[in-house]
Amino acid sequence: MKLSVSKPEKSVLRTITQEVLREDLELFEQKLSEQLSGQKEYLTANEYEMYRRGKKLRPILNLMFARMVCGSGEALPDRCYKAASSLEMLHVASLIHDDIIDGADCRRDLPAVHSDRGVGSAIVLGDMQFLQAVRGFVDVITVPEDMELVQMVLDVAFDVSRGEMDELLAPKAEDYGKMRQRYLRTIERKTATLLGLACEAGVILGGGRRSDARRAGFWGRKVGLAFQIMDDVTDCIRTRGDSGKDGKADLKNRTLSLPIIFALESAPDSCLTRYMDGREEYSEEVADFVLINGVGKAYEYARAYVDEALEYLSFFPDNRYTKLLRELIREMVDKA
Ligand code: IPE
Ligand code: IPE
Ligand code: MG
Ligand code: MG
Repeated sequence: MKLSVSKPEKSVLRTITQEVLREDLELFEQKLSEQLSGQKEYLTANEYEMYRRGKKLRPILNLMFARMVCGSGEALPDRCYKAASSLEMLHVASLIHDDIIDGADCRRDLPAVHSDRGVGSAIVLGDMQFLQAVRGFVDVITVPEDMELVQMVLDVAFDVSRGEMDELLAPKAEDYGKMRQRYLRTIERKTATLLGLACEAGVILGGGRRSDARRAGFWGRKVGLAFQIMDDVTDCIRTRGDSGKDGKADLKNRTLSLPIIFALESAPDSCLTRYMDGREEYSEEVADFVLINGVGKAYEYARAYVDEALEYLSFFPDNRYTKLLRELIREMVDKA
């Protein structure tokens, strides 16, 4: 099996994957392939293909921060690639489970694991990816202080689960300010902590200072908030085909994403309120209402997090990696 980074559509990501990190990503692919070989009797061709197709954002951030502190030139320490591959596995684990929860049949333009082979197998397969990811981090321990990394991974895995539960348990009727607060806490847990970990671990494994690692983690979490908000904005806009996922999933699941919260707030008794209360069926009118009344405000929120993240990057040396990270996060909100 040959794993490869799928062709990204966006230009900064393409520059990073095809030029700046090309060799690093090849080494990362090798590690991922090795880590998956332990499960080869259980993985289907569909799942191998799903692994192949992701954007690999978490490994990319991880390796960019490792490079930022190590500089270019020689290969990074072997453990950097193993950690990068474990981060992707942790992410894939959460996606396999998330698609069961969200009833999503499509992931990375492929049948979701639960649609392909049933919920039971998808639960266990997701667990296997989680556990293999943690084992990968245990393997990179060389000195006792590295145990801190394993602790961080476990904390993040726990947070992702908490975030998914928080989303499931979110009350449907609440003060709008509280809804927004709850939403932000949920996405901090389910998405931002993993992006933060990717960046923080990159600095640690690249041999950087702990203070820089903490800053990188903080930066990654801000980016993670913007990233999830943009994902939720895109969910309101897309029809299936442009992202490899089904469109309008949050609305169809009555999940309180930020655009939906803002749209609810814009008019207390709208078709959207009636739909979210279960008094009305799903319709194009409801989807258009969110587009018109919620998307713009949510997008402004994502931009504000990107601006905050940009300020945090000023603590790092002004090199090509920092420059590309800056461009990458601008692109994330500009080209959506
Ligand atoms: C999707 O993440 C889940 C979110 C946290 C929004 P990505 O957009 O990074 O998905 P892949 O890895 O490219 O499939
Ligand atoms: C993100 O939540 C998934 C995780 C962080 C586990 P979503 O439900 O919004 O992600 P997509 O849109 O299905 O990728
Ligand atoms: Mg989902
Ligand atoms: Mg979800």
